[in-house]
Amino acid sequence: MGFEGKSVLITGAGSGLGRQAALRFAEEGAHLVLGDVAEAGLAETAAMVRTAGADFRALRCDVNDAGDAAALVSAAVESFGRLDIAVNNAGILHRLARLPDLETEVFERVMAVNAGGVFLGMKHQLPVMIGQRAGVIVNIASAAGLVGAPLMSAYAAAKHAVIGLTRSAADECARAGVRINALCPSFAATPMLDDIADEMGSDEVEERLTTRVPMRRFARPEEVVAALLFLASDDNSFMTGQALSVDGGLTAV
Ligand SMILES: NC(=O)c1ccc[n+]([C@@H]2O[C@H](COP(=O)([O-])OP(=O)(O)OC[C@H]3O[C@@H](n4cnc5c(N)ncnc54)[C@H](O)[C@@H]3O)[C@@H](O)[C@H]2O)c1
Repeated sequence: MGFEGKSVLITGAGSGLGRQAALRFAEEGAHLVLGDVAEAGLAETAAMVRTAGADFRALRCDVNDAGDAAALVSAAVESFGRLDIAVNNAGILHRLARLPDLETEVFERVMAVNAGGVFLGMKHQLPVMIGQRAGVIVNIASAAGLVGAPLMSAYAAAKHAVIGLTRSAADECARAGVRINALCPSFAATPMLDDIADEMGSDEVEERLTTRVPMRRFARPEEVVAALLFLASDDNSFMTGQALSVDGGLTAV
């Protein structure tokens, strides 16, 4: 898909969609900078991409820390000479609760990681890409960035913010040769859903969570990552500022 030798930065690479993206880019011959706050998961992904033969750097990072966001970009430039693609994927969920019952601290934390992390990521990635007059950013939003998510209001607010950041920065950077899009999956089968499943205490979590999804199932991580690679590829050269849904039809009806 044209990723051979490209320098690709992925946050939240220690689990779920970020790990799957790291493996796909590794298979495509890309060079990788992998970041995650969870060191054990990051080490597991690092071992997997090493087995796949990729040239990579793995750095513990908190996406809500400006120094860490800058360090990931520096690692790409120092190791591979440039930054071609950045995937701002790290994110957290919160316990299911109606808005009045959600602690203010939870709201602030979710906004800081899910929206603040994307802001800080792009703040450090864009100067390098603009300097190169080339680059692609994919921000992982959610279907909850396009429509409301009952019992997940802080998460939905943060994901709406990711789309606002994406659209605004895309316009700012379009003439500098940098494309920026958001990806909006519905529920995908990753460890992120484990806590919800525990809270719901039901064997039928997938059935209950997908009652509004026309395809009536979770996405497989590889289905989401296939769309991510399309967004990042040079074939997709005229799309910027978009929020692409990969949601089994959820936001179509
Ligand atoms: N799984 C879903 O149903 C789903 C649906 C829509 C959108 N998303 C989004 O996709 C992205 C990836 O989610 P996932 O399903 O792979 O979840 P996951 O929990 O499996 O992986 C998320 C990763 O992000 C890391 N992370 C969390 N906070 C961080 C921080 N402050 N700094 C750096 N890393 C941090 C975690 O350690 C973890 O490795 C998230 O942004 C999520 O909101 C997921």
